[in-house]
Amino acid sequence: MLTESFDEDESCWRDLADVLSAGISRVLLYGPSGTGKTYAALHHNVGSCPAERLVCTEDLTSGEITGTWMPVGENRWEWREGPAIRAWRGAGGLGGRLVVDEVDRASGDALSTLLAMTDSPESARWRNPETSEWVRPGPQFSVMMTSNCDDLDEIPASLRDRFPVSIRIDQPHASALASLSSDLRAPARAGSLGPASRRVSLRCFYAFDELRRHLGPARAARLVFGDDVGTSVLDALAIASLA
Ligand SMILES: Nc1ncnc2c1ncn2[C@@H]1O[C@H](COP(=O)(O)OP(=O)(O)OP(=O)(O)O)[C@@H](O)[C@H]1O
Ligand SMILES: [Mg+2]
Repeated sequence: MLTESFDEDESCWRDLADVLSAGISRVLLYGPSGTGKTYAALHHNVGSCPAERLVCTEDLTSGEITGTWMPVGENRWEWREGPAIRAWRGAGGLGGRLVVDEVDRASGDALSTLLAMTDSPESARWRNPETSEWVRPGPQFSVMMTSNCDDLDEIPASLRDRFPVSIRIDQPHASALASLSSDLRAPARAGSLGPASRRVSLRCFYAFDELRRHLGPARAARLVFGDDVGTSVLDALAIASLA
């Protein structure tokens, strides 16, 4: 679970916390890869019911969103509700969190279904084809979409319109940095290490930190950052340690 402590009052994480506390239930998190967008969407302000997650690809089908018929014996089929409907229901019908990752890739039928699932609470409803029950999102239903494109125009306009608040996540959360060794926190926060223009994601920092404990810094740097860049990464860390 994320802590509510922040290094800077003005950070993107402060914006997210304030928006959620103000009761906004639809937020788009976008920006560079590996800054913790999905992690935050899965954990931030999520109640007792674990978040449901959908990852959009060109092949995502409507059935993977709302559910499909499944064989349960000879000539018997049952409808299995998908992640969006499970999130609508949440624990005890109160509604939970739906996370829609890589949303810029949604297209075709899946996009239409996502539009229906993220519609305003007053309009959203879906009928279970097996029981004919009408389902509506519970009062605590929330959706977070994530995308690592930097241009919001790449996200289908109809979907974006359902998410009036978009926050560009440009740095890892303080709790993500806290689990790194202290010498890696500042570069991880800046998102770079070694050659100035080279972006390094949180995932690489975690892998480097873990590997150097087992294999030593030189091999870890070579394995994570490659032969060309590994040495300059080590030089950058050595210089930072003198400061
Ligand atoms: N607050 C956190 N505490 C602990 N680990 C974290 C935290 N935030 C992110 N991480 C870890 O950092 C890595 C990258 O996070 P995540 O997958 O959320 O990034 P992302 O911004 O969604 O990346 P992408 O744009 O590539 O999908 C993951 O291994 C995740 O578990
Ligand atoms: Mg992600």
